Amino acid sequence: MKQQSISSFFIFLFFLQCTYTFAQSPAAAPAQAPAVVVAQPPAATPAQAAAPHGITNVTKILEKAGHFTIFIRLLRSTQEENHLFSALNDSSTGLTIFAPTDSAFSELKSGTLNTLSDGDKSELVKFHVVPTFLSTSQFQTVSNPLGTWAGTGSRLPLNVTSYPNSVNITTGLTNTSLSGTVYTDNQLAIYKIEKVLLPKDIFASNAPAPAPVAPAPEKPAKAVPAANVESPVAPVDISSAVWFMHNNVVGSVGIVASAVFAL
Ligand SMILES: *[C@@H]1O[C@H](CO)[C@@H](O)[C@H](O)[C@H]1NC(C)=O
Ligand SMILES: *[C@@H]1O[C@H](CO)[C@@H](O)[C@H](O)[C@H]1NC(C)=O
Ligand SMILES: *[C@@H]1O[C@H](CO)[C@@H](O)[C@H](O)[C@H]1NC(C)=O
Ligand SMILES: *[C@@H]1O[C@H](CO)[C@@H](O)[C@H](O)[C@H]1NC(C)=O
Ligand SMILES: *[C@@H]1O[C@H](CO)[C@@H](O)[C@H](O)[C@H]1NC(C)=O
Repeated sequence: MKQQSISSFFIFLFFLQCTYTFAQSPAAAPAQAPAVVVAQPPAATPAQAAAPHGITNVTKILEKAGHFTIFIRLLRSTQEENHLFSALNDSSTGLTIFAPTDSAFSELKSGTLNTLSDGDKSELVKFHVVPTFLSTSQFQTVSNPLGTWAGTGSRLPLNVTSYPNSVNITTGLTNTSLSGTVYTDNQLAIYKIEKVLLPKDIFASNAPAPAPVAPAPEKPAKAVPAANVESPVAPVDISSAVWFMHNNVVGSVGIVASAVFAL
């Protein structure tokens, strides 16, 4: 009986560790990340991702990959989902998307997204899209700063540096590295990141108080027609997504725990 409860305890620890790893990696284990970037095959094949008309559907790929609920919600509420779709139909240079996971969003200071204007939400999403296709090997030769859909310039730097074991990204406010390849063909690459890339333009503490007039010259037009932004990500949505994630983890621990007690 004693031996059984000891081994149950170890099984419990093992599952706890699995759950923890599942929930935390790779942010908690940056050393493992690089291999994943190189070795991990695309989660979806081009054929699976193709929508009617043969245009790659980014939302579908992210849905299939899982853990991108909040990013998908932002893509929808900002209409960037449609923008991506038509860009992939038109673009000959392709696209690269840095997709932050749900846990990346959950690391933001609470309320961060809710306090952003619709225009800033749009800019934040666009900041994660580079208007050229970049394979992991192309990161070695890329010239910084990269331009994104949000624009270029000193308030919107996005630098990518390739090291032997990792591909690191910095915005000046956020440092992170690629933690996996979600999808790649020759036109579209989607990489997983464990932090939301915060552009200085929106988040630098010395940013001027939001004034509706006089955007900096380098700042791109925030071309989000007011009529199109019908429902920005609602506070309830975000917190419930985060709540769901937490609960999911707590839930699986709970299930494992009761399984152990049932032994
Ligand atoms: C892309 O996929 C998503 C999710 O599966 C779906 O809701 C959306 O309608 C698709 N878009 C197009 C243009 O097919
Ligand atoms: C894709 O582009 C072609 C050629 O520009 C256009 O005729 C077609 O309507 C576009 N398809 C979609 C779904 O936007
Ligand atoms: C990005 O790279 C450029 C060119 O090397 C450099 O001037 C700039 O300071 C870098 N910015 C950040 C935030 O690292
Ligand atoms: C990002 O990394 C640079 C260089 O390693 C460091 O100087 C900077 O303080 C880091 N910034 C943050 C926000 O972690
Ligand atoms: C690259 O990023 C990882 C984590 O994101 C960090 O541990 C590592 O120190 C970074 N490498 C350099 C050279 O900044």
